Amino acid sequence: MVDSKVLVYITVSIAVVSCATIGKLLQVPDKDPTLRNLVYKDGLPKANTKIHDTVLWVPATTQFSARRITVMNQGKLYSTWTYDMLLQQSDCRSSTTPMSDLAGCKPNSSSPKTLCSVHTSLFDNDLSSAETEVYCTKA
Ligand SMILES: *[C@@H]1O[C@H](CO)[C@@H](O)[C@H](O)[C@H]1NC(C)=O
Repeated sequence: MVDSKVLVYITVSIAVVSCATIGKLLQVPDKDPTLRNLVYKDGLPKANTKIHDTVLWVPATTQFSARRITVMNQGKLYSTWTYDMLLQQSDCRSSTTPMSDLAGCKPNSSSPKTLCSVHTSLFDNDLSSAETEVYCTKA
């Protein structure tokens, strides 16, 4: 049988750890799976809708300089993300390539680049709640 003091200790520890990250601006590593999902399922499709080129634009580097701040909103975790994407043309035609295939498009290293900065707010694990703004400038 687990000692109830141990259970209380574990519960308090978990609560302390979650509180420690709530409301704090955190740096997100480039390899973070949630960030990657956000880039390929939200930021990149929205950037391409804005760029509106005959080919799809994809990340030229895997550096996103991402930051995240999470707060409680209506009893759920709600995060605001900011990150940068240095984009470059790929050889995927916009007219024939679905946005869901973006991860398979390779950047054309001799094509021009553009730097896009992305701001997204969403309930954690609910991409459909995402409100996103993308600003792109020529790099
Ligand atoms: C790569 O980009 C260059 C410069 O825009 C262009 O001339 C070339 O055709 C592109 N290559 C492919 C395979 O799309």
